[in-house]
Amino acid sequence: MKKLLDLFCGAGGAGKGYMDAGFEVTGVDINPQPDYPATFIQGDAISYLAAHGHEYDAIHASPPCQASSALTKGTNKGKEYLNLIPATRALLKLHDVPTIIENVQGSDLRRDLTLCGEMFGLGVLRHRYFELDGWGALPLAHKPHRGRVAGYRHGEWFDGPYFAVYGEGGGKGSIAQWQEAMGMPWTNNRKSIAEAIPPAYTRFIGGQLMNHLDSIDMINELRSAA
Ligand SMILES: C[S@@+](CC[C@H](N)C(=O)[O-])C[C@H]1O[C@@H](n2cnc3c(N)ncnc32)[C@H](O)[C@@H]1O
Repeated sequence: MKKLLDLFCGAGGAGKGYMDAGFEVTGVDINPQPDYPATFIQGDAISYLAAHGHEYDAIHASPPCQASSALTKGTNKGKEYLNLIPATRALLKLHDVPTIIENVQGSDLRRDLTLCGEMFGLGVLRHRYFELDGWGALPLAHKPHRGRVAGYRHGEWFDGPYFAVYGEGGGKGSIAQWQEAMGMPWTNNRKSIAEAIPPAYTRFIGGQLMNHLDSIDMINELRSAA
C-alpha cells in the first residue's frame, strides 16, 4: 500500500480523502487529535518532515492559515501569526516524491489547482488552493454557485444552500449540518470541522496521485525488465 504523510493533519478532513483514494495515511499535528481517522503522531510537522519524510510515497501539508486568511486578516489586526508555508515548501523540495501544499484564498501558494465545494455538490463553498510539486493533476472547471451562504449579515437573515463553516457565532448551522456540509461525520468538534478541507477535495486529488504513482511503478518495472 502507498504511504501518504498528512502534515498539520487536524481531525483529518484531508487525510480521510486520501484514505478513500487507497492510501495508508499517517497524520502529524502539534495538538492531540483524538478523532483522526488514521495513524496519528503528535508533534511538530516541520521536525517530523525533516526526520521521517523520506519514509513516505507522497506528502500533503496544510500549514495553519491564520497568517493569510481573509477572515483573520480583517479581525485580528495587531496579532502576529507565524507563516509556516515557506519552511514547509523549502523542506518538501528536498523530498523526491509528489507533494501537495493546501491553503486558503489569499495565501501565497501557486494555484496549480483551485477547488470549491460546489464542484462536489457540497453545502460549503470553501475555495482552496493546492500547490503540487513532482507531479501534476488535472483541474476541475469552476461551477457557478447555486446561491448565497446562509446566515445573518448585519442583523438580516439570508437563506442559501451553503453553510458558513467557521467561527462560533450564531446562525451558522448545527454540528450535524456542518458534518453533512463538509462530509465529516466522524468528528463533532466544531473547531476541527471549521479548520478542515472537505475529504472530497483530497479524494479527487488522491485518485489522480495514486494513478501517477502506479504509472511510475509500471515504468520502473518495464525499465528493469528491459
Ligand atoms: C488548517 S488546520 C489543518 C486541517 C486539516 N488539513 C484537515 O483537513 O482537517 C492546521 C493544523 O495545523 C496544526 N499545527 C499548527 N502548528 C503546527 C506545527 N508546528 N506542527 C504540526 N501541526 C501544527 C494545528 O493544530 C491545526 O490542526
